[in-house]
Amino acid sequence: MRPVTLVTGASSGLGAEFARLCARRGDEVVLAARRKERLDALAAEIGNAHVVSIDLAHGQAPRQLVSELEWRGLRVETLINNAGSGLAGRFADLPLTRQREMLDLNVVALTELAHLVLPAMREKRQGAILNVASTGAFQPGPGIGVYFATKAYVLSFTEALHQELKGSGIKVSALCPGPTATEFGAVAGVASEQFQKFSAGAAEVAAAGLKGLGRNQAVIVPGFMNKVSAQSNRLMPRAAMRRIVASLKL
Ligand SMILES: NC(=O)c1ccc[n+]([C@@H]2O[C@H](COP(=O)([O-])OP(=O)(O)OC[C@H]3O[C@@H](n4cnc5c(N)ncnc54)[C@H](OP(=O)(O)O)[C@@H]3O)[C@@H](O)[C@H]2O)c1
Repeated sequence: MRPVTLVTGASSGLGAEFARLCARRGDEVVLAARRKERLDALAAEIGNAHVVSIDLAHGQAPRQLVSELEWRGLRVETLINNAGSGLAGRFADLPLTRQREMLDLNVVALTELAHLVLPAMREKRQGAILNVASTGAFQPGPGIGVYFATKAYVLSFTEALHQELKGSGIKVSALCPGPTATEFGAVAGVASEQFQKFSAGAAEVAAAGLKGLGRNQAVIVPGFMNKVSAQSNRLMPRAAMRRIVASLKL
C-alpha cells in the first residue's frame, strides 16, 4: 500500500491550496469532492494525484472513499479533513435539509473519516490528521448557529483526539481560520463587506495549517487578529459574546 495524503473538499478554496502545497512537498495526493471536472483540472496541474468524485454528506460515503483508496492500493498517511460548508440565516427560517447536510458533512463525515484512517496509522505508528474548524468554533453564532456549532464540535473533538494520541506517532491538529477568500461566503450566503475586507488568502491559511500540523500543534489559529479574537472569548462573558455575534452583519 502506498502512503497518500487525502484532501477532502479539494475542488476549491483551502482544499485546493492544501493539495498544491502537499504535492509541492512531494506527497502523492488524493483529491476528493463532488465536482469532478475541478478535481481533474487540479490533478493535471499538480501531477501525482488521484481523483475521487464523491458526495461526503451522504450515507456510506466516507467508508466508500476509504475502501476505494484501499482498492487502488493507497493508504492514507495524512488526512486533511477540510470539506465543509456553512449556511447563514436564522435557524427556524433555513431549510432543515440544508442544515442536516451541513451536520452530515462538517461533523459526521469528518468524524467517520478520522475513525476509518486511524487503524492503519496506529499500526504504522505514523500519520497526521488536520481537521478544519473555524474561529466560529470559539463562540455561539446567532445568525449562523448550526455552522458555528459544527465547528465547535470539530474543535472539541480534535483537541480530545490530539490528547488521546499523544506519544502514538500520530499528529492531530485543528485549524481554525477566520474569514478566508474562498467560495465559502457565496455558498454560505455570507457576503458582508466586513467578511470580504478581512478575508485572508487561502494559500497562506493552508500553509499555516500544514506548518502547525507538522509541529503537532493542537489548535492552529492563523493571523494575529484571529488569535486576538479567539483569546478574547476566554475573557468576555458568554452572554456578551452572543450579543456581539448577533449584531454582526453576515
Ligand atoms: N472560507 C472561510 O472563511 C472559512 C473560515 C473558517 C473555516 N472554513 C472552513 O474551511 C473549509 C474549506 O472551505 P473553503 O473556505 O475552502 O470553502 P469552499 O471554497 O466552498 O470549499 C469547500 C469544499 O468542500 C467541498 N464540499 C462541499 N460539500 C461537499 C460534499 N457534500 N461532499 C464532498 N465535498 C464537499 C467543496 O467541493 P464540491 O462542491 O465540489 O463538492 C469544496 O471543495 C470548510 O470546512 C470551512 O468550513 C472556511
